[in-house]
Amino acid sequence: MKVLSVVGARPQFVKLAPVAEAFAATDHEHVIVHTGQHYDKNMSDVFFADLRIPDPDVHLGVGSGSHGVQTGAMLSALDAVLDEHRPDWVLVYGDTNSTLAGTLSAVKMHLPVAHLEAGLRSFNRRMPEEHNRVLTDHAADILLAPTQVAMDHLATEGLSARARLIGDVMTDVCFRVRDAVRDKSLGKPLDVPFKSGEYVVSTIHRAENTDDPERLAALVEGLAAAGTPVLLLAHPRLVAKCAEHGIKLERPDGSLHVHEPLAYPEMVAAVLGSAGVVTDSGGLQKEAFLLGRVCTTLRTETEWVETLEDGWNVLTSDVSKLPELAARPAPASDRPMPYGDGHAAGRVVTALTE
Ligand code: UD1
Repeated sequence: MKVLSVVGARPQFVKLAPVAEAFAATDHEHVIVHTGQHYDKNMSDVFFADLRIPDPDVHLGVGSGSHGVQTGAMLSALDAVLDEHRPDWVLVYGDTNSTLAGTLSAVKMHLPVAHLEAGLRSFNRRMPEEHNRVLTDHAADILLAPTQVAMDHLATEGLSARARLIGDVMTDVCFRVRDAVRDKSLGKPLDVPFKSGEYVVSTIHRAENTDDPERLAALVEGLAAAGTPVLLLAHPRLVAKCAEHGIKLERPDGSLHVHEPLAYPEMVAAVLGSAGVVTDSGGLQKEAFLLGRVCTTLRTETEWVETLEDGWNVLTSDVSKLPELAARPAPASDRPMPYGDGHAAGRVVTALTE
């Protein structure tokens, strides 16, 4: 069997890592195509290096642009690649513009498509990720769902016959890296001016938080006033938007410490060392949960609803609540484990083989 993975953005490299490892342990051929949606070294290359992902076989180098321009550039470049490789499966990941482009190109060439992380829904039709995941689920031939909630969404949309519950590949990689970070076989010491347990980790990148200057300014002020020092791992979109609107990020009083995006092992270490996470990222919400740290999600909804149970994750758009929420004590109850057993990637291989 020949499987061709299409990836392009940071969260997809994390999901690709356990899948590439699972394929490497078989006789199947696995071709990796990188669209180039994320191109900065610390948004792309470091993930391949740290997570020991083989270098991409093909790099489309599309870079940034409006959604249509970016997705269109990927589409027009992908036809020739898929035609050359003629894989048995095109495997797409998550909900980015790279996911949608890989799906569209494949279905139009009558190549079977498998969607990893199928069935997630925010029910917010203004989010580009929601368009991407709904369209991909309805076009794909097999839907690899991470949770029962995702399976239920697929059933509601009439897609049960194509859906398989395989668990979450992010659990595979998160637990493997957590253990390697703990025994110091992976990761560098964190270069931050905080002691363990005395800071919160934050990331902000969603359009709904970054694209309106008033919202963005309020958010940054809210983080600086969180009461617990914030380690802000600044996505390029956040840095660019703050520069464009004259919004100051770094605070000399240490309330807000700006750092470049971290490589995956350092991110796991930063979360483990933190008193909590404040984010609008989907993946980081779940990593906080898997690593046993409270999370405050700066959005009105989440795709990962299981994290909300017992209060491990709390949704709020109101940054004035951060002093009470950001470093709140962890819930006393045992954490449920709805995200699989850490062996989901092997089930991807099995599902595609069958
Ligand atoms: C994308 C995904 C989002 C995912 C996120 C993770 C879509 C629609 N969104 O959002 O679901 O959570 O990745 O980070 O696909 N930029 C750089 N260097 C880079 C990458 C981006 O400078 O390596 C800047 C560019 O100015 C670009 C902006 O960041 O215009 C946004 O990048 P883009 O890939 O369009 O979307 P993300 O916001 O990263």
